[in-house]
Amino acid sequence: MRQAGRYLPEYQALRARAEDFLALCMTPDLAAEVTLQPVHRFGFDAAILFSDILILPWALGRPLSFVEGQGPVMPPLRKAEEVAALDLARMPEAMAPVLETIRIVRATLPASATLIGFGGAPFTLACYLVDGTGGAFLATRRAIREDPSFFTALIERLTDATIAWLTAQAEAGAEALMLFDSWAGLLPPLLFRQFVMAPTARILAALKRRFPRVPLMGFPRLAGLMLPAYAALPGLDAVGLDTTSDPVLARSLVPNELTLQGNLDPLALLAGGPALAEEAGAIASALRGHPHIFNLGHGVLPETPPAHVANLVSLVRGL
Ligand code: CP3
Repeated sequence: MRQAGRYLPEYQALRARAEDFLALCMTPDLAAEVTLQPVHRFGFDAAILFSDILILPWALGRPLSFVEGQGPVMPPLRKAEEVAALDLARMPEAMAPVLETIRIVRATLPASATLIGFGGAPFTLACYLVDGTGGAFLATRRAIREDPSFFTALIERLTDATIAWLTAQAEAGAEALMLFDSWAGLLPPLLFRQFVMAPTARILAALKRRFPRVPLMGFPRLAGLMLPAYAALPGLDAVGLDTTSDPVLARSLVPNELTLQGNLDPLALLAGGPALAEEAGAIASALRGHPHIFNLGHGVLPETPPAHVANLVSLVRGL
């Protein structure tokens, strides 16, 4: 996860050529090159499109900037009129460079490697939209209770936009699609079902109907005991486990044919050495005999030495 990015010197070099992170995402030649960098360096089996989940709200008309040291910043969205103003008609033009990136990558990537497209799940997008930046998302969690009709309308609009967005990516050449619900674990069970599972189910159904052979993957981070319910959603082909999920337990709680992805702690990758070998080996043994995509449980940290990633790849290939 976040296999491209700041831990790679070749990314830093390209990033310095673009005006900012958003410009990098929106310049197809550069975004395609960044997407391919980790595949060229490490020989991964898959490339994930270089973009960001917040490009979608930006395409719907919300201003977005990435502030050094703080992450994404948007004007907080709090009013029903602002939900109604999220404009799906802007998407085709705003998203055109991303679709062009997909076409370039697919034309360059080795045929054996899979190109993964992605989007943020509606709840996680809503967290950034309503609060305006990362944190404990208190404004979002209050709005759910204090202004439920506003929040429901926002989730509905983001669900429609996400379906359109992932459909366009599959049409442009994405061969698998992943939904990142990084903040799903903030919700208690009732609200998890309502604002994580229900919108995800609607997205999965729409995409499966249209692209029956494109694998659909979900990442309900920190879902805890809700993981089995999420994993049983019709149309879901794979679930990404976060670092806190025990793979042995997880495999006993999900359907046999559901692929599990994960879940090495990015700190083990940062540390390297025996900690990395031990933790990676434990995950592989826990999931032996179950369909498994070896991955991290969250994004690669910018301080990670690239040599540790190379070590991990040879470790996993040798297991
Ligand atoms: O290699 C890849 O995984 C593909 C690209 C990708 C990025 N973001 C690039 C990026 C993907 C799949 C994402 C998903 C994403 N973005 C998520 C879901 C997954 C997760 O990490 O939980 C979320 C919540 C975001 C929102 C976001 N974008 C944040 C919170 C930040 C700041 C992170 C930080 O460490 O500063 C970003 C910026 C971002 N997205 C960077 C990258 C490479 C860093 C940009 C830079 O400064 O160069």
